[in-house]
Amino acid sequence: FLPQVLQGRRVLITAGPTQEAIDPVRYISNHSSGKMGYALAEAAANMGAQVTLVSGPTNLAEPVWSNRIPVTSAQQMLNAVEQASHDHDIFISCAAVADYKVKDVAAEKIKKSQHQMSIQLDRNPDILATIAQQIEKPFCVGFAAETNNVIEYASGKMQRKNLDMIIANDVSNKDIGFNSSQNAVTVLWPDGQQSFAQMDKSALAEELIRLIAKQFEQTRSN
Ligand code: C5P
Repeated sequence: FLPQVLQGRRVLITAGPTQEAIDPVRYISNHSSGKMGYALAEAAANMGAQVTLVSGPTNLAEPVWSNRIPVTSAQQMLNAVEQASHDHDIFISCAAVADYKVKDVAAEKIKKSQHQMSIQLDRNPDILATIAQQIEKPFCVGFAAETNNVIEYASGKMQRKNLDMIIANDVSNKDIGFNSSQNAVTVLWPDGQQSFAQMDKSALAEELIRLIAKQFEQTRSN
């Protein structure tokens, strides 16, 4: 049995990729598997939390313990998260949200021709930054996937997005991160940091939830 460090706490987690429609049969997305977010959701639930999991399309089974809200696009994910954020204590943003969406989604399937074609893209909203700007914001935890200057970029991201904590991983290492079942991370918060060596995402998720719970309690008692 795991220590019930989140007993009575409500935790909101996003996971997986988003899909941005091009036309009724095509979309833009990324290789996020959702494994890290689902592992965090399971660990939080096993440690006593009430969990809401807002999930983009993944091949993972619906967790038995959690309230899963399935979404497709970044805008849908933002809507679901904004609605839920007010009655959650902690928000962990693990989703690989598409940075861009298609400007004019075609109502009918686009036909091929002999010519080149181009698609115009608009910026998607930053879900995490939106929530972290709320006045009564939950304790906000972000992820930073970087290929170089990992700590420096992650620390900048934490400040810029007004986060309480950021979990940085080096995605230039092919053995970890995206789509892999293992990960290695460094966690940063305003006055400290801790590194975790490569391990299974489920084991890492338990370590991360312990640390998040500890920092959450500390900021609340200040
Ligand atoms: O800026 P960057 O995409 O590297 O930030 C990563 C963090 O921000 C992750 O926690 C991710 O879930 C979150 N994010 C978001 N909405 C976006 C882009 C990123 O919530 N549109």
